[in-house]
Amino acid sequence: MLTVPCTGGVSDDDFILVLGFWRLVQMLFPEAKKLTEKMVYEGELLMSGFEMNSLFLMEIFVDSLLFILGVGVLCIVYMYIVDSRQTKHAIRRNFPVVGRFRYFFEHLGEFFRQYFFAMDREEMPFNRAKRAWVYRAAKNVDGTVAFGSSKSISEPGAVLFVTHPFPVLTEDYAATQTLIIGPHCRQPFEATSFFNVSAMSFGAISQPAVSALSRGAAKAGCWINTGEGGLSPHHLEGGSDIVFQIGTAKYGVRDEAGKLDDEKLLAMAAHPQVKMFEIKISQGAKPGKGGILPGIKVTQVIAMTRGIPIGEASISPNGHADIRNVDQLLDMLAHVREITGKPAGFKLVVGGTRFFDELCEAVKQRGVEEFAPDFITLDSGDGGTGAAPQSLLDSAGLNIRETLPMVNDKLVEYGLRDHIRLIAAGKLITPTDVAWALCAGADFVVSARGFMFALGCIQAMQCNKNTCPTGVATHDKDLQQGLDPTDKATRVANYVAQMEQEVGAIAHSCGVCEPRQLNRSHARIVTELGQSVPLDILYRKQAEQNPLFSKPS
Ligand SMILES: Cc1cc2nc3c(=O)[nH]c(=O)nc-3n(C[C@H](O)[C@H](O)[C@H](O)COP(=O)(O)O)c2cc1C
Repeated sequence: MLTVPCTGGVSDDDFILVLGFWRLVQMLFPEAKKLTEKMVYEGELLMSGFEMNSLFLMEIFVDSLLFILGVGVLCIVYMYIVDSRQTKHAIRRNFPVVGRFRYFFEHLGEFFRQYFFAMDREEMPFNRAKRAWVYRAAKNVDGTVAFGSSKSISEPGAVLFVTHPFPVLTEDYAATQTLIIGPHCRQPFEATSFFNVSAMSFGAISQPAVSALSRGAAKAGCWINTGEGGLSPHHLEGGSDIVFQIGTAKYGVRDEAGKLDDEKLLAMAAHPQVKMFEIKISQGAKPGKGGILPGIKVTQVIAMTRGIPIGEASISPNGHADIRNVDQLLDMLAHVREITGKPAGFKLVVGGTRFFDELCEAVKQRGVEEFAPDFITLDSGDGGTGAAPQSLLDSAGLNIRETLPMVNDKLVEYGLRDHIRLIAAGKLITPTDVAWALCAGADFVVSARGFMFALGCIQAMQCNKNTCPTGVATHDKDLQQGLDPTDKATRVANYVAQMEQEVGAIAHSCGVCEPRQLNRSHARIVTELGQSVPLDILYRKQAEQNPLFSKPS
């Protein structure tokens, strides 16, 4: 029975409000309900169709609300009993139900800090100012910033470029020189861009992400590195240059026992897009630790790409079983170069200079042309990964800021610098970072996370959970839908183009015609005293003071 106290002269909106109120009164005071039922029954109240429907809906609404409230109360009671009886969490036991909010707020805090509280230069691993630069570059929107810099230029470690009183005039700008890697190989690689895509395996990042990188790199004229997960059809689809990485599991070029298969290696080299081979000795984020791709992520394409069974967890060893010392490393490099005819080098995060002394001595002893690596990729101790133990992430391996000049100088010391190209990686995602690396001694800079930002990554830090909200590092098809490879390929290309342009602007301001002419005299670093020192003097001083740098007798 539908009942209502009075309807005459009231608007529809007010009527609905009155209904809601009246329904509650009815629930609380059953006498009032009986009274109005009687009134309607006796014909004292007449209702229009709209009023009847509204009343009906309101009844459902209020009933549902009460039902939900009832269930809520039951849940709270249930949680109270569970919390106070469990023994694992002290907070929940001492403060049943309310204690649970701690976990909730802790989770939400990550997002709140990022959006509301963290200052522009505060966040880790990448602060908002740096990410914003990449986003703007990738979207090709106005890159200018108003009013002034939010960076403190007197903080120790700040890089300052040595501007020339007479910058290079527009008409004197020069195109960046190409650089040949492995000039003695049967097929040397002439690389055009100084900024390229660092190793990220298909598996750690999604299929649309790989497609977008491949297409974007082709547009931009830079290379992409396959990462240790092998070469998939998606790497090839854009037509960009490719560096094939040989990881510890030798995915894509392994036999059934997991050893290097020369026929597969030859087949890999037959792809004209594959320009060089990189042996991964270690990765900055997790030196001495292999990768794990859970079985659920080993789809048909990933299984085919890696050369492993579908659905089985893909676990790579923590080192190469066949490379246990410097000589074996040189043997392997020479073997890969011989089979493929293409440049071969290795990637590692540096832990000290002793290894480089050994390496350089061995190369000189055995023959520079045949045994010198064509390139060395230096990763930083604070490099990125899809997943790694926190202790290795936080504390294993030195920072590229220290190791790039250190290794460069070691190679110069042994007279090998002209034979070995240096590629630097590790949070080098803005023009300042890249220009610093070129000044400090890098021939090329590569980035992984910079390109993830260009693909739309928001630093949600969920690469290891399959829940990446932007579709970059997940195999969840629903989440991948957000990443359109065509649009994101353009962003990847824009990012490289803007990087080249702005590093060019730094070079011109320093009085040289193009980025490759930058050297150590063009940058200074602020010391603890707040004064800056030119890189050429700073690193020479370090070399003089540090016994590890001294020449072997
Ligand atoms: C999602 C992800 C996957 C990666 N996969 C590989 C890999 O397969 N092999 C490798 O040598 N490095 C890998 N890296 C490390 C990067 O290639 C790079 O060396 C490191 O992240 C530093 O560059 P960045 O600071 O620009 O990210 C990966 C990094 C990320 C973020």
